[in-house]
Amino acid sequence: MSAVEKPVLLDVNGLSVSFATDRGMVKSVRDVSFTVREGEILSIVGESGSGKSVTLLSLLGLHDPKTTKVDGAVAFRGKRIMEMSAQQMRRIRGKDIGLISQDPMTALTPVYTIGWQIAEQIRAHETISARAARLRAIELLGEVGLSNPGEAVDRYPHQLSGGMRQRALIAMALSCNPALLVADEPTTALDVTVQAQVLDLLLRLRKDFGSAIILITHDMGVVAEVADQVAVMYAGRIVERGPTDQIFTNPMHPYTWGLMGSIPPLTGPRLSRLKSIPGMPPTPDMISEACGFAPRCDFASAACGTHPPLRRHQDQACLCVLDTPERDLLRSTVLPLEELA
Ligand SMILES: Nc1ncnc2c1ncn2[C@@H]1O[C@H](COP(=O)(O)OP(=O)(O)O)[C@@H](O)[C@H]1O
Ligand SMILES: [Mg+2]
Repeated sequence: MSAVEKPVLLDVNGLSVSFATDRGMVKSVRDVSFTVREGEILSIVGESGSGKSVTLLSLLGLHDPKTTKVDGAVAFRGKRIMEMSAQQMRRIRGKDIGLISQDPMTALTPVYTIGWQIAEQIRAHETISARAARLRAIELLGEVGLSNPGEAVDRYPHQLSGGMRQRALIAMALSCNPALLVADEPTTALDVTVQAQVLDLLLRLRKDFGSAIILITHDMGVVAEVADQVAVMYAGRIVERGPTDQIFTNPMHPYTWGLMGSIPPLTGPRLSRLKSIPGMPPTPDMISEACGFAPRCDFASAACGTHPPLRRHQDQACLCVLDTPERDLLRSTVLPLEELA
């Protein structure tokens, strides 16, 4: 599905994030750029620790400014948002941009009922009575698939199952029909049946409200199914990005080849985790200008010790020294692409 003609909603350009640590400033995210168009689904994939959450939380202004240095330019609907005040950012988050964070337990306040929390979120952005906001909260809880929303609305987060909490969080993120929904591994903690339901819900959001979605996931099967665009992160960088069909038919980066190997056969379980690629991902303080994946890459050479060049193919971009025809030849030794097509 392509939304190429739609206007750009979010434009991230050269985002870098460093944290103050006891070993000095450590760069966790380096020079990340991507765009999301209206109604488009961008999936960000990559192993734990590759910088997916840090990228999104910092561009939404949710980092701690005392310990975090964020550089780069982020425009939402053409307006630069990193320069906005905390108050302006809060208005945008929740109204124009909804966030489903990785951990629903920390995103929900334990001392208030979920109905109260959803209603407050609505009332922070709309002039609406407490009663009307509560009714809207019940309606939303029904829409996200809670079977008895009139009862669930008065429950506290700890009285809900993991799946129900995740749905409550989604209801909260949806409460203002955001133009952009940022979903950070929204299904990772859930069992397979609930995972599929939550994904259906996200797709319905796009269909009903035209929302764009940034979906962080470990799951290449999910990516293949729902994403328009893919960004593959490794060691704080986007090592490859492009339209999903191109990434799946012509993955350019050896790390992406490894991820492709994780796609289960059509007859197997549909929601599997990333295949484990031998070796450990680097920690941020080990990351240099060189290709971060080189120590684990079967095709690395001395040339990988400097900043990898940007290779382009149609709408794809990739950071790797390998180029055609050598790249295609090497790929054919590890990845039977005709099975994927
Ligand atoms: N507040 C912080 N201080 C220092 N390092 C951090 C902080 N938050 C995240 N990191 C580091 O940044 C890297 C990227 O983390 P994260 O974005 O959470 O990865 P993931 O891709 O799993 O979402 C990790 O190595 C993590 O340890
Ligand atoms: Mg994360």
